[in-house]
Amino acid sequence: MLMRSHYCGLVTEALIGQAVTLCGWVNRRRDHGGVIFIDLRDREGTVQVVCDPDRPEMFATAEGLRNEYCIQVKGVVRARPEGTVNEAIRSGKVEVLCHAIEVLNPSVTPPFQLDDDNLSETTRLTHRVLDLRRPYMQRNLMLRYRVAMEVRKFLDANGFIDIETPMLTRSTPEGARDYLVPSRVHDGMFYALPQSPQLFKQLLMVAGFDRYYQITKCFRDEDLRADRQPEFTQIDIETSFMTEQEIRDLFQAMIKTVFANTIGVDLGDFPVMPYAEAMARYGSDKPDLRVKMEFTELTDVMKDVEFKVFSGPANQPGGRVVALRVPGGAQLSRSEIDAYTEFVKIYGAKGLAWIKVNDLAAGRDGLQSPIVKNLHDAALQAILQRSGAHNGDLLFFGADKAKIVNDAIGALRVKIGHSEFGRRNGLFEDRWAPLWVVDFPMFEYDEEEGRWVAVHHPFTAPKDGHEERMATDPGTCLAKAYDMVLNGWELGGGSVRIHRADVQRKVFAALNIGEQEARAKFGFLLDALQYGAPPHGGLAFGLDRLVTLMTGAESIRDVIAFPKTQRAQCLLTHAPSPVDEKQLRELHIRLRNPQPA
Ligand code: AMO
Ligand code: AMP
Repeated sequence: MLMRSHYCGLVTEALIGQAVTLCGWVNRRRDHGGVIFIDLRDREGTVQVVCDPDRPEMFATAEGLRNEYCIQVKGVVRARPEGTVNEAIRSGKVEVLCHAIEVLNPSVTPPFQLDDDNLSETTRLTHRVLDLRRPYMQRNLMLRYRVAMEVRKFLDANGFIDIETPMLTRSTPEGARDYLVPSRVHDGMFYALPQSPQLFKQLLMVAGFDRYYQITKCFRDEDLRADRQPEFTQIDIETSFMTEQEIRDLFQAMIKTVFANTIGVDLGDFPVMPYAEAMARYGSDKPDLRVKMEFTELTDVMKDVEFKVFSGPANQPGGRVVALRVPGGAQLSRSEIDAYTEFVKIYGAKGLAWIKVNDLAAGRDGLQSPIVKNLHDAALQAILQRSGAHNGDLLFFGADKAKIVNDAIGALRVKIGHSEFGRRNGLFEDRWAPLWVVDFPMFEYDEEEGRWVAVHHPFTAPKDGHEERMATDPGTCLAKAYDMVLNGWELGGGSVRIHRADVQRKVFAALNIGEQEARAKFGFLLDALQYGAPPHGGLAFGLDRLVTLMTGAESIRDVIAFPKTQRAQCLLTHAPSPVDEKQLRELHIRLRNPQPA
């Protein structure tokens, strides 16, 4: 005898008249005057089980069932009576007439109703096992599996092979803080958990493996957000002997295949946008193209206006002044504008100037605003013409260092686009919006550190002909780097790498990494590059982000079985936790502060 013959959720009309043995959890028990209905649930869904009193022993067991009991049911599949069909579920046309029930394991009362959709995240993560039983999480994790399988199939079919790389390694240069692991054997020494397999995959190319991939954990100690976890999963890929264009084409095809084969979505063609254009139009290197608003550049016309808030940044090197035209925005109330003003402050903006365009024909009198009196005619005209303002629009302004303007007005653009107001006014297009962002700069200047840093990572190749600029004018040097963006999220990114040791040394020099430091940290790479390293490149996708976008979840925590909180804790196991003094001693560690209890 089979312990189970079918999944509950897969019992359909095809089985009518057949005997089945089902195992699952009691989703709900309903007593209907002499008849008991049980919704029995497993990972594939639920099925209705009918218990008639004419089998007293079975019926008595049914009466004792409570939510989340794990039970086995034997019975016969029959069509549901007319009028009781449930179109919402796969098994909705049938039910199972119960002959016998065995309680495999009772359950204590769960801390919440599994079908409660308003659970706090703390509750969900504390009781993650029960949370994972819910159909929502079952669906998400099954989709995650199917996505990973599609990725493996595609890569396998294209000759990529899976090679594992170490978890206990040296610090890798993705720019976040490392998670460190103390060595017992080597007093005072530490391993770092990999922020990505970047250097190992490059070494595998030098070793001749040609096409590598790995679906692997990466670890970064950074500030956490909805799209970030301290440990997350990359689909990590590297190939030799392919150009930037070939790499992009192949992995665009991969992502398209994954979407088509799992959720039946055709992503269409991906637009390709240079980084400079993305920053100019959207203030972001991962623009959400579903939002139909763009920046209007005003820096050049604000240099000689009376309004210091604008003329200051306009005359400063690295300053920027832009407008964001919000079609229909004149209907926004004062308190809504105030709320947006508070919002942009999160990004460092000092204020949010605005103009309501009530009547273009009336000239200045048709404009309602705290700032127009300080703007001369030419500036006003440029604002209205360049932005294409219509009656009923509102213009928001950002003026500051370019980074602050881009961050603040870029975030404002998305915020308004996604809002109720934005959706009502057609500022948001409900569609899939993928794109490639290309031609990233090689370097950006880090004000805090007072030096140039790599925008992608220091192993990224400069564009052909840009190599010499690395020493003379690093700010204008572009990289063979690319990001795939979907709906405003950075889904993946990569680059063609440097495969010659002399070029790699020049990049280290531009980054102010001295010969000695380069030797100490990356000597193994520089050495490897000397043995006929092949031209190579690759990229990595965030699997968690990919699946999150496909499910429509708000946070990547909803597609990870056992995620960490925003404060990097596991509420289930209570990690991180204190350890024994004995363990610390073995690791040669003395704590600076007493251990928390
Ligand atoms: P990068 O740092 O851009 O590139 O990472 C690649 C992709 O990984 C995802 N990702 C994250 N997902 C969740 N939580 C995080 N904390 C997190 N950080 C990154 C993103 C991102 O696009 N070695 C290079 C790739 C390469 O050059 O081949 C790298 O790691 O989706
Ligand atoms: P103030 O003259 O400082 O009272 O500012 C007049 C208007 O300009 C107000 O609406 C402010 O919100 C706005 N404002 C102030 N600083 C900035 C800035 N850096 N960028 C955009 N608007 C600003």
